[in-house]
Amino acid sequence: MRKTLLTWGAVAGMVLCALGLAAQDDKQTVQSGVYSEEQAERGHKTFSEACMVCHQPEEFTQGNYMDGWSGQTVGDLVDFIRSTMPEDNPGRLKRREYIDIVAFLFSQNGLPAGPNDLDRDTMGDIVIEGPFGQASGQ
Ligand code: HEC
Repeated sequence: MRKTLLTWGAVAGMVLCALGLAAQDDKQTVQSGVYSEEQAERGHKTFSEACMVCHQPEEFTQGNYMDGWSGQTVGDLVDFIRSTMPEDNPGRLKRREYIDIVAFLFSQNGLPAGPNDLDRDTMGDIVIEGPFGQASGQ
């Protein structure tokens, strides 16, 4: 009898613990490896083709550019770029290409890469938060 109670106590403890972890997941930030290296490379290529006519990557790393986005979500940043850029033809690229570009910009800001691509289903739950650095080797 006593043993059963203890077991149920342990189960309840585990459930609460799992709930706690799930709640933390909702507040994921860009510091936890939310894009992949390969994605940033794809984004670099797309950025070179579609954005470098008018921009240099440094514009989005220097002058604390990302600090201006602090507190907003990755989805906000992607949507902003998608609805305004390229300036001469906003929304011209595929949504996935905009997401890749943002992954590239994160890599340029020294944010860590992780195992998975950033994608449209999760980007609205990921908060942009410093500190931001520079990509290594630059
Ligand atoms: C035809 C020129 C042109 C192209 C191509 C272009 N942009 Fe821009 N972009 C501008 C201009 C002009 C502005 C507004 C002034 C500024 O901040 O440079 C701007 C602003 C921005 C901003 C906002 C900067 C801020 O102050 O917050 C971002 C982000 C941006 N562009 C990203 C991109 C990305 C990503 C691409 C490629 C998909 C792109 N742009 C392609 C001309 C361009």
